[in-house]
Amino acid sequence: MTPLPDPDLYAVVPCAGVGERAGAGMPKQYAQVAGRSLVAHTLAALAAVRRIRQVLVVLAPGDSAFESHVPGHTGWVARVGGASRAASVAGGLVALAEHGARDHDWVLVHDAARCLVPTHAVDALIDACLDDGVGGLLALPVADTLKHERDGRVAATLDRAGKWQAQTPQMFRLGPLREALLLHGGEAGITDESSAMEAAGWAPRLVPGALENFKITYPGDFALAERLFRTRDPIP
Ligand code: CTP
Ligand code: MG
Repeated sequence: MTPLPDPDLYAVVPCAGVGERAGAGMPKQYAQVAGRSLVAHTLAALAAVRRIRQVLVVLAPGDSAFESHVPGHTGWVARVGGASRAASVAGGLVALAEHGARDHDWVLVHDAARCLVPTHAVDALIDACLDDGVGGLLALPVADTLKHERDGRVAATLDRAGKWQAQTPQMFRLGPLREALLLHGGEAGITDESSAMEAAGWAPRLVPGALENFKITYPGDFALAERLFRTRDPIP
């Protein structure tokens, strides 16, 4: 049997959400933080990861705002976003294959809304997954005590041992990820690539991420991101 050529690494950035919880009056990925749109920061962070060959941004069909919010962007863009994040990523994988990506190539899926992802965290994920049979994700062990809520009151304290909060990027091979999203992407609770892979029977590797790689989700998150951008070292 002829061995497969070395896999390439690609990134897919789902950027087709409406940002309802952020209440920014526009899709949150286009809100301005520290002088640029969120997604422009995200793309700059991924561009600093040398091993990523190309980045494909998934936009909503009819999105006419991206180019003005990411001036000078020359990477791949596909207006194939769907009703769910899983559908947007699945569309992005099809577009990636149309650009020549192969089933054994690695894909790092990264939220447009995680604009503070540090280069070293993405490199740590790549280092941990390149020789892994499944792939994996950045995640953080839960630090706080966990409460289950009922009607605004604590119904129970949950055991936090062994629990992790999933982040992105999440890194899997294109073929198995496409299969997993095709079979399970429409099921309840499939909110990231890992959960689709898990439903398909895989056990993705957990790779410690970084607290600053949080997802801009609620109105107060923009000011926190702004402060972090203003005080951190510039991207190399
Ligand atoms: N996303 C997407 N397509 C969707 C839903 C989400 O591409 N149908 C993207 C978002 O643009 C974001 C990432 O997936 O970059 C993470 O999703 P989330 O933080 O939930 O963003 P939104 O769905 O836009 O926000 P909300 O759930 O508050 O409406
Ligand atoms: Mg959402």
